[in-house]
Amino acid sequence: MAEEKIVKEKEDIQVLLTEKRVFEPPADLAANSNVKAWMDKHGIKTLDELLEKTQDIEWFWKEMADELLDFYKPYDKVLDWDAPWAKWFVGGEYNIVHDALDKHMKTAVKDKVCFRFEGEPGEIKEWTYADMYREVNKLANAMRKLGVGKGDRVGLYMPMLVELPVAMLACAKIGAIHSVVFSGFSATALAERLNDCDTKLLITCDHFWRRGNKVALKPQADDAMKLSPTVEHCIVYKRTGDEVPWTEGRDLWWHEITADQPGECETEKLDANDLLYILYTSGTTGHPKGIQHAHAGYAVGTAATLKWVFDLKEDDVWWCAADIGWVTGHSYIVYGPMILGATSVLYEGAPAFPEADRWWDMIEKHKVSVLYTSPTAVRAHMRLGEDHPNKHDMKTLRLLGSVGEPINPEAWMWYHKFVGKDNCPIMDTWWQTETGHFMITPLPITSLKPGTATHPFPGIAAKVYNEEGEPITGAGGHLVIEKPWPGMLRGLYKNPDRYKDVYWSRFKDTYLAGDVTRMDEDGYFWIQGRADDVLNVAGHRIGNSEVESALVSHPKVAESAVIGKPHELKGESLCAFVVLMQGVEPSDELRAELREHVGVEIGKIARPDEIWFVHDVPKTRSGKIMRRVIRAKAVGEKVGDTSTLANPEAVEEIGKAH
Ligand code: WT7
Repeated sequence: MAEEKIVKEKEDIQVLLTEKRVFEPPADLAANSNVKAWMDKHGIKTLDELLEKTQDIEWFWKEMADELLDFYKPYDKVLDWDAPWAKWFVGGEYNIVHDALDKHMKTAVKDKVCFRFEGEPGEIKEWTYADMYREVNKLANAMRKLGVGKGDRVGLYMPMLVELPVAMLACAKIGAIHSVVFSGFSATALAERLNDCDTKLLITCDHFWRRGNKVALKPQADDAMKLSPTVEHCIVYKRTGDEVPWTEGRDLWWHEITADQPGECETEKLDANDLLYILYTSGTTGHPKGIQHAHAGYAVGTAATLKWVFDLKEDDVWWCAADIGWVTGHSYIVYGPMILGATSVLYEGAPAFPEADRWWDMIEKHKVSVLYTSPTAVRAHMRLGEDHPNKHDMKTLRLLGSVGEPINPEAWMWYHKFVGKDNCPIMDTWWQTETGHFMITPLPITSLKPGTATHPFPGIAAKVYNEEGEPITGAGGHLVIEKPWPGMLRGLYKNPDRYKDVYWSRFKDTYLAGDVTRMDEDGYFWIQGRADDVLNVAGHRIGNSEVESALVSHPKVAESAVIGKPHELKGESLCAFVVLMQGVEPSDELRAELREHVGVEIGKIARPDEIWFVHDVPKTRSGKIMRRVIRAKAVGEKVGDTSTLANPEAVEEIGKAH
């Protein structure tokens, strides 16, 4: 019932936003694209034909793997599907590091720039593939010496420095499983993630630059390690050189332990389906989900999608302006681009710092040809005004991209006009931490409509289902994937039941993405937002219940309900209703204290924008917080059926709080 209502509400909103404009990709771009070359080779004439033929997923992904990957021992079988468990390239011996680094040492890619790093203070450092290879090997050797090996979990709590990809690849090289934790997360959030997967080693840095300030990371890591008994060692990379607290025996300087290590290191030959990494993401409970990804399937998925969607060619300069702490950075800063041997820009700092045109200046300076960012960033730049991009020569740009949340047509148009100068198609890519790579996305041959991620990528069986599980068009429904795909998650860390329950129980043997979506009469997918209790704040997923548990962990709070409100810049903003302990007086000081408390418990991104004190929050008789009702009341929409509420009077109070 509740689900149906949400679908209906979002559908009504969508009708108002129906977009009619269609933008054709520039003819020469389409004609010379990687995807077009592949179609010609296979005698495929149209996009429709491509999408239809590639529904033979085993044929298609085998084609892609044979083109892009290099196995130590060939696989016997493309896919083994025992729903909801998939194995790709079964029997193959493989390691993603071989494709991302080792194999390049035999070609001209060796001396090509892999990362052009720009620190926030402005220094620039180029890392060739050979540099990366050497540094990865040194660190991998040092890690092996510490007793870290195949299957061990390594936590990486690092900012946007090239040393983060180095550390990720060093783990993969020796078969260890990395778990990157976003550097904006707090010590408590880090500790939870370190503990969930029994982390053996943590790698972090001293401080890093953000908006002109030095952010101390090592002290946070120390606080987390107090709560994480499994961590045996902590490797610390020196970024700023400022003093940090030190625990002798446990803590080791990166530069010291790698100094005498050889620049060669044998890559562990793994099973194609061995785990590459765990990445935690929010769900509907207070505990994040440990999404697992495996080597070979993920490798082909990220490389193929990047090659086709953003059309990467030898001379391109690729800038994925995401943080490596999220899946976008894993797939499209580290693994995808490196498998393709691409040159990437990597930037340490804040977007419009110290000047509003920092990004546009960087695009001009580094001759960026493809830019991939989020609607939130586009809206923030839109607010600063087009004078800033207009000051710069950005004619090297040929493609633009968007990810993380639906891009509203206004932001799409601004991005297209002032960044792309009406000449760059915008690739609005829909995907998730779980999917590993783009799932619904334009190609350089797709006619674009602002605000839609267009069609499924070849080899992806996406549909929109109604409540009965029938494919529908023209109305809001559930976004599902009917067949497995190579980069799909391989379950949740030590939690197969939650994996089955969250993704595979609503429709038989079909993946439920959790997004309300409408497919129009031309087969375009309009993603409208989450169907579950998960918020999307500035393109980052935050579970309502995570913020609620953080608030309730404060001694003065008895209960809380957190909802998302539409926000001009961030997509959604966090709004919390808080019931205080008996005898505690509401005050502005307490509001500030609670905001800070959430910052400490989870991280700054999760601090509520608004906090309202109430006597009660609307709940069902079984005690479930009715967020749908609260949200409707708070944003002034129709509340609908409240007959299941145990305390309807609480709804009125929510209304008055506004
Ligand atoms: C959720 C996944 C995938 C990397 C960034 C976020 C939303 C993502 C789009 C898009 C509309 C989008 C969905 C999805 N989302 N891309 N192009 N259009 N919505 O990864 O944290 O795993 O979040 O982000 O709601 O389910 P994530």
